[in-house]
Amino acid sequence: MKSDTLKSFIVDAASGTHSRRDLLKTAAALGIGATAATGLLTQIESVKAAGQLEVFSWWTSEGEHPALVALFDAFTKSNPDVKIIDAGVAGGGGGPAQAVLQTRLQGNQPPDSWQSHPGHELIDGYVNAGYCEPISDLYASEGWSKAIPQGLIDQCTSEGEQYLIPVGVHRGNDLFYNKEVIAAAGVTIGESMTAEEFKTALDAVKASGKVGLALGDKDGFVPAQTFENHLLGMLGPDKYKDLFGGTGDWTTDEVKAVVTSYGELLGYINDDHSALAWSDATAMIIEGKAAFNTMGDWSYGEFVAKDVVDKMGYVSYPGSKGSFVLVVDGFTKPKGAPDPENTIAWLKTVGTVEAQAAFNPLKGSIPARTDVPMDSFSDYHKWSAASFAGDSLVPSAAHGLATTPAFKQAFYDAAIAFVTDKDADVFVQTLADAQAADKA
Ligand code: GAL
Repeated sequence: MKSDTLKSFIVDAASGTHSRRDLLKTAAALGIGATAATGLLTQIESVKAAGQLEVFSWWTSEGEHPALVALFDAFTKSNPDVKIIDAGVAGGGGGPAQAVLQTRLQGNQPPDSWQSHPGHELIDGYVNAGYCEPISDLYASEGWSKAIPQGLIDQCTSEGEQYLIPVGVHRGNDLFYNKEVIAAAGVTIGESMTAEEFKTALDAVKASGKVGLALGDKDGFVPAQTFENHLLGMLGPDKYKDLFGGTGDWTTDEVKAVVTSYGELLGYINDDHSALAWSDATAMIIEGKAAFNTMGDWSYGEFVAKDVVDKMGYVSYPGSKGSFVLVVDGFTKPKGAPDPENTIAWLKTVGTVEAQAAFNPLKGSIPARTDVPMDSFSDYHKWSAASFAGDSLVPSAAHGLATTPAFKQAFYDAAIAFVTDKDADVFVQTLADAQAADKA
């Protein structure tokens, strides 16, 4: 009986709807002394003030998750009483997570912050739909306007207001390889690779009895990303931007030739590709079952987590040297966040030099801030940072930066179907139709 009345007192106190005076009166009636009751109330209030922070992401892989935890650790340092809820939904590229998030947002149940790419994904998918609040005041108060390159800020901006704090910049057009596997196949790789050298290398690896190109297209983004890299390698950054930017023509012979050549590349993949996630394909090259994998440099995060950095080599996807495919990650401020003060504290943390210095070495990306000291970063990170500073920057379509969500979906569908049907005409027509629908 006594514990029941105590319980209802605690519930009343935690509800926040009763004044302290009333609560103390209730406590007295229950026989709880004033000192004990005041102590209890103070404890309840401090738990309420600390509250929770629910962070929604798809960073669940062996390389991604420790990087997210590094951000949590940075947050906890300055907010030790806030309970973090790690709302991760597995599935590389975020397809499954984004579906869950849409349902939550439509049902008015946002987390305290979610992971998003800037560009179209952020603006069309979340800002225009009314799900985000601007964070322009934080850009000013935290000095982000000066620390983050203007090009990135522009991708986080709609009608003059910023809506995302970027934490890291991934390079999407990488080709990773296992040094021992290519050496055993008699292949040597220099600073870059041409398409012809790549084909010769794939043939040599195949002849050596290993898989040439590891592919894990259980994750829907993988065929799209492989294709965008191939397209960039063959046509260069300007035509890439025209096509995904909505002004290029998908039905030309030139584009069809890219698709056909992409189909030939798929002749070198593993048979079990559709059962594997991107990280399984990365594991194939780590374990020496395959020679090459084209992926964004979150794969580098897997190398770090598995302590195999020295075994692995990297070049730009063949033909794409001089370009940097942008896959930028950041966090939002939801409208109606359950704990808005914690959201702000989280965004402030994510935007600091310290958090970005802790996160990016594990994630494989480079910091979004340009003032993070890079001396202790890996050679790979320095290579990527030099490319970011000097190369043509092109937004990834496979990761939602370059196109509308509707076009991205059509791109995924076309690229997934093409892995099996290899029908170049259907592929380009699907993209041409999606482009026309965007303009309608
Ligand atoms: C991207 C994201 C990366 C990485 C990758 C694979 O969309 O930007 O950070 O997580 O998916 O899951």
